[in-house]
Amino acid sequence: MLTTTTSKINIQVRRFTIFDIENLYTYLTHLSPETKKRFGPHKFDKQSIFDFYRESDKNIGYITLDNENHSIIGYFIIKRGFLAHDRERLEGYRLTLDNQTDCTFAPSLADHWQGSGVGKLVFQFILSDLKKMKFSRIILWGGVQSDNTRAVNYYINLGFKTLGQFSHNGNNLDMIYSIDQSTGKTDGGFDQ
Ligand SMILES: CC(C)(COP(=O)(O)OP(=O)(O)OC[C@H]1O[C@@H](n2cnc3c(N)ncnc32)[C@H](O)[C@@H]1OP(=O)(O)O)[C@@H](O)C(=O)NCCC(=O)NCCS
Repeated sequence: MLTTTTSKINIQVRRFTIFDIENLYTYLTHLSPETKKRFGPHKFDKQSIFDFYRESDKNIGYITLDNENHSIIGYFIIKRGFLAHDRERLEGYRLTLDNQTDCTFAPSLADHWQGSGVGKLVFQFILSDLKKMKFSRIILWGGVQSDNTRAVNYYINLGFKTLGQFSHNGNNLDMIYSIDQSTGKTDGGFDQ
């Protein structure tokens, strides 16, 4: 678990456990329709959350908590490997996919916290975890909708590169991040 109080932001980030289901359910049900439209790796009822983590040890959840009231303000998912139904499209970019070293990423923050730099901080924490697990690339979960300006800028700012675009409920971008295993400090200001 890591905590930070940089830039007046007082949060902690840690891995999701099954004991967090109730809190996570509250977080997910309070997201705005706009955010729900952008983020949906699994259904938001408690059984679906339970199944998502019980059925596959490939799914790793990360929650961000507000240290003031201990509520969840962010939920980020990493899947080991790549999504089976994205395979053909991703291979169309001449990527050689690898279930051991590739992983797939889906981020979300509570509406009130979006655009305040928290997403970037959380990514640095997740990145250091992924380095320890020896992952070398991060692929976006189902791409990102081109009209989701905040998310597209967020990914570009973090260093994601665009692989290509595809049409599904509008235009979408596939993006990928190469993890540099050689650099040391990646904790983005967190106190370990
Ligand atoms: C995507 C998301 C996780 C990003 O986290 P965030 O905390 O809002 O992003 P940050 O504040 O760390 O901003 C990172 C960068 O994004 C860009 N950004 C932030 N707010 C923005 C806005 N309102 N408009 C355009 N770009 C914006 C900036 O480039 C910023 O970097 P900078 O501050 O150095 O300029 C968050 O906005 C979110 O949960 N969105 C809804 C769900 C979603 O769209 N998920 C992604 C699905 S693919």
